[in-house]
Amino acid sequence: MLVNYGCVSRNGFYRTQAQVVYAATARMLTRRRFLQGAGGLVLLGASGSAYAGVIEPRFRLSLAEWTVAHPAWPAAAPPLRIVALADLHAMHPWMPVPRIESIVAEANALRPDLIVLLGDYVAGMQRFRTGIVPIADWTQALAALRAPLGVHAVLGNHDWWVDAKAVRRGLESSGIEVLENMAVKLSGDGRRFWLAGLGDQLAIPQARGFKGVDDLPTTIAQISGDTDPAILLAHEPDIFPRVPERVTLTLSGHTHGGQVLLPFIGRPAVPSRYGERFAYGHIVEGGRHLIVSAGLGLSCFPVRFMVPPEIALITLTAPGPGPA
Ligand SMILES: [Fe+2]
Repeated sequence: MLVNYGCVSRNGFYRTQAQVVYAATARMLTRRRFLQGAGGLVLLGASGSAYAGVIEPRFRLSLAEWTVAHPAWPAAAPPLRIVALADLHAMHPWMPVPRIESIVAEANALRPDLIVLLGDYVAGMQRFRTGIVPIADWTQALAALRAPLGVHAVLGNHDWWVDAKAVRRGLESSGIEVLENMAVKLSGDGRRFWLAGLGDQLAIPQARGFKGVDDLPTTIAQISGDTDPAILLAHEPDIFPRVPERVTLTLSGHTHGGQVLLPFIGRPAVPSRYGERFAYGHIVEGGRHLIVSAGLGLSCFPVRFMVPPEIALITLTAPGPGPA
């Protein structure tokens, strides 16, 4: 039964006093909760933006460790420890020279046998950056990298889009060998293997798409005359389906691991025609191995979230003895 206590609801129905008090309280709670919720969302948004826009890309540095046990690696040879640095994208404010110097120091502290640089050294964003780091400055910082088997590099698409010749000159003047559709034999301390570098697959923008300067057949043809293990550096991982079994391990960057990894959603964008397939990590297909590093810098959009900048440390070794 409804009793009239003098209050009419907006829709014309009478309500009890208790209902009126309850409704008023509910409105207050609803308003308060709304304001609290909105305030919380603003704070969350602001702190999330600060984290993704500044803290993760500028200050975090993680170590991604991978072990590849491959029958092509001789059991008698010691394992090979490779540090891979990808997608530096030197620019202000995210990747200034002091940041590069600290990455170089961390890489050297890992005492790798070999250091490889996987391309995209120059700035990747025109709209959001506050300045570029000159090639002479970031190459000087990279010149401090140290490994007994040397520092070797490939170029990436951004290097081509800015000035491939100048980037190559800068790297070489810092003692870093640039491998473009070229393979070299490296040896030392009981290890002997091929190291090959592929030309960039997106080097030259066209009216529609890009033209690569990659030449996989020529590169692979140089790995000949023996069965020594072979490591291929290829900036973009999209080449992987075409990489022959002769290659023991392919190392790539370019994807930045998507740069953003959202809970329950995943990576909103991956710059690969294969989507998530080669977005990040150790991929094994048909006995062939690919490792894609999330890299260090930013391009396209100025955030990193749950894909922190990383140094990749890869150990290539022979398979261990199986269970007795
Ligand atoms: Fe790239």
